[in-house]
Amino acid sequence: MQRIVKILLVFFVSLQFHVAFAGEGMWIPLLLKSLNEKEMQNMGMKMTAEDIYSVNKGSLKDAIVHFGGFCTSELVSSNGLLLTNHHCGYGQIQSHTTLENNYIRDGFWAKSMDQELPNPGLTATFIVRIKDVTEAALNGVKDKMDEKTRQSTIDLNLEQIKATTRLAAQEEISIKPFYKGNQYFMFVTMTYRDVRLVGAPPEMIGKFGSDTDNWVWPRHTGDFAFFRIYADENNMPADYSPDNKPYQPKHYLPISLDGVAEDDFTLVFGFPGRTNEYLPSYAVEQTVEVLNPAKIAIRDRALKIVDAAMRADPQVKIQYASKFARIANYWKKWIGESQGLKQTNGIGKKQDYEAKFEKKLTDNKKLKKKYGHLLPKFKELYTEIEPYALTHDYYNEVVFRNVELLRVANYMTRLVGQFENNGEAGYDNYKGRLANYLKGFYKDYRPEIDRKVFGALFEMYDKNIPIQNVSSPIKQLLTQRNMKSYDDIATNIYENSYFTSMGGVERVFAMDVATAIEKIKNDPAYSFIKSVSEAFNTHAEKEYNRINDEINTLMRSYMQAQMDVFPKKRFYPDANSTMRVTYGKVDGYNARDAVRYMPVTYLEGVMEKYVPGDYEFDVPKKLQELYHAKDYGQYAADNGKIPICFIGTNHTTGGNSGSPAIDAHGNLIGLNFDRAWEGTMSDMNYDASICRNIMVDVRYILFIVDKYAGASNLIDEMKLVHPKKK
Ligand code: ARG
Ligand code: GLU
Repeated sequence: MQRIVKILLVFFVSLQFHVAFAGEGMWIPLLLKSLNEKEMQNMGMKMTAEDIYSVNKGSLKDAIVHFGGFCTSELVSSNGLLLTNHHCGYGQIQSHTTLENNYIRDGFWAKSMDQELPNPGLTATFIVRIKDVTEAALNGVKDKMDEKTRQSTIDLNLEQIKATTRLAAQEEISIKPFYKGNQYFMFVTMTYRDVRLVGAPPEMIGKFGSDTDNWVWPRHTGDFAFFRIYADENNMPADYSPDNKPYQPKHYLPISLDGVAEDDFTLVFGFPGRTNEYLPSYAVEQTVEVLNPAKIAIRDRALKIVDAAMRADPQVKIQYASKFARIANYWKKWIGESQGLKQTNGIGKKQDYEAKFEKKLTDNKKLKKKYGHLLPKFKELYTEIEPYALTHDYYNEVVFRNVELLRVANYMTRLVGQFENNGEAGYDNYKGRLANYLKGFYKDYRPEIDRKVFGALFEMYDKNIPIQNVSSPIKQLLTQRNMKSYDDIATNIYENSYFTSMGGVERVFAMDVATAIEKIKNDPAYSFIKSVSEAFNTHAEKEYNRINDEINTLMRSYMQAQMDVFPKKRFYPDANSTMRVTYGKVDGYNARDAVRYMPVTYLEGVMEKYVPGDYEFDVPKKLQELYHAKDYGQYAADNGKIPICFIGTNHTTGGNSGSPAIDAHGNLIGLNFDRAWEGTMSDMNYDASICRNIMVDVRYILFIVDKYAGASNLIDEMKLVHPKKK
């Protein structure tokens, strides 16, 4: 009997272990050996931690490249061939696109290296090595120090570490806080500066489903593009030169043709941007109840106006497509995030966790004394910050993100600042760069649409901001005779500002400095932004920053507290754009009552979604032909179909776009590009029941490259393997 109980116990404990660790965590490659290796191998991984991260020999990490600082990419050939997402390379693809060579619409394929297209400013960064420098960074730091002294002590320490670290030629160093500033890690990096565009599918494949399908599973997007890193004759970073040679990597990823099955081990390696996994329940509640709804409502209003204009005019549709996509991306994400937190009782789970935390404190006097104040203090601070946080978000959304004219006005404010601080030289320098940027901006700008957005959003701003004084400039305008409504204010500004067209800006820029500065200062858009931002800074932002600093200090202590109170629990640091490993398995999920999603999509699904002529769901003719002829070559799955995308339990976030999905042996099986809507809350609360990352199946990529584009030169360059079929 006892034996059975014991066996059952072992069974349940291991079951729990399995469920609890099905994918949560963004782990530091350096620490895999001590924290994760065993579990990864239990989950089916055939590699060692050393195969993934090593400084002594080539390892997986040498194939993982930070792409432009905002996405991830990976090497897939011995000649520096780089794979990332279509949406990561979109800016580059767009910049080479002209009416004659419409690479966005038709795709682009360099048939030989001399056709590959350089991209000034685009970088590819390698991690040479990682080091835990916590001890040196926190040297001399005392618990009782005030924040300022603490920070300056640390800053000095970091300078010291940097000064005494030996770097090889072209190596760079950065040190970043982890675990809310309780630990510090150093990264030695090397950045290549000649990265060329090699190939991209047409938008109908690379962006199939566009905004409608964004964050959505089931998904059918071939979100990939190829680039190549070039180096000087010593394989070192160099500025673009026609003499540069393809980079020779220490390691590149072989590509598996055997695909994935449910429950297969998957590892995603990349540069996740930002997460907040250790927030107290009060913060999560505030996000769900107050901040997300406000931000969603603002974007909702703006998007509706832009959408109506796009539907009415095909020219506007082109001009606003990418702006609309940018605004819609996080609008949609926040909706999913709030829903997911509600659906999985995310706040309740945080509260349970906090109750356990408090219980542990009650049982341990020493811990109680040290950490007993934390949760009550959080409650107080989050209550205190709420009106300021809401105001802060309102200001950001309205002033910086959604009203385009105010962005220009902000640049003009900086231009004036340049003049005031650096005289005419500063002015001229900034003016030149600004004029350049604004040319591109006005190409896709419609003041009549923006004016409507202005009127609608400032109505919300005035009515909903909880700190009255912040909107006093608007109230004041409303008392003027010719401005009875928010639309009147908008009309007044847009009709009298120089900044609604490039022509207007050029007229000002042609004037002598003194006159130009005066004109700018008297411009209604400039005065508006000036009074609005002053009111905001005085009545909200100062206080917001003060409370926020207090929260951050408390958060550091709370992070340490959680580690002390739950010494057996493994903690991973929040994402901070540094290199991380996450692992999980291929898995479907129950999205809502009676709805279960399968983990793999097929070309059949592309055809199901096909809407001839649609700007989101059209399918290129050639792809239809391949589908009807079932001309799939070596890229079909065992069931004879072409797989498109699959989902897994890997814990990813923005910045993981373009990250490789790697199998148990270290081969490439897919390319991460999104998450499923219901689980976007994983930035605050990962829940293995619904959090899924979305990857393109690498066989779809190869199929498109080979059968669709006929770019056999690329296929020949890659190393295709069959790990499952020996
Ligand atoms: N949701 C993905 C990511 O955050 C893809 C975004 C690009 N695609 C789009 N349709 N907007 O960032
Ligand atoms: N599309 C995101 C990116 O650009 C990845 C999706 C996510 O947030 O997980 O990094």
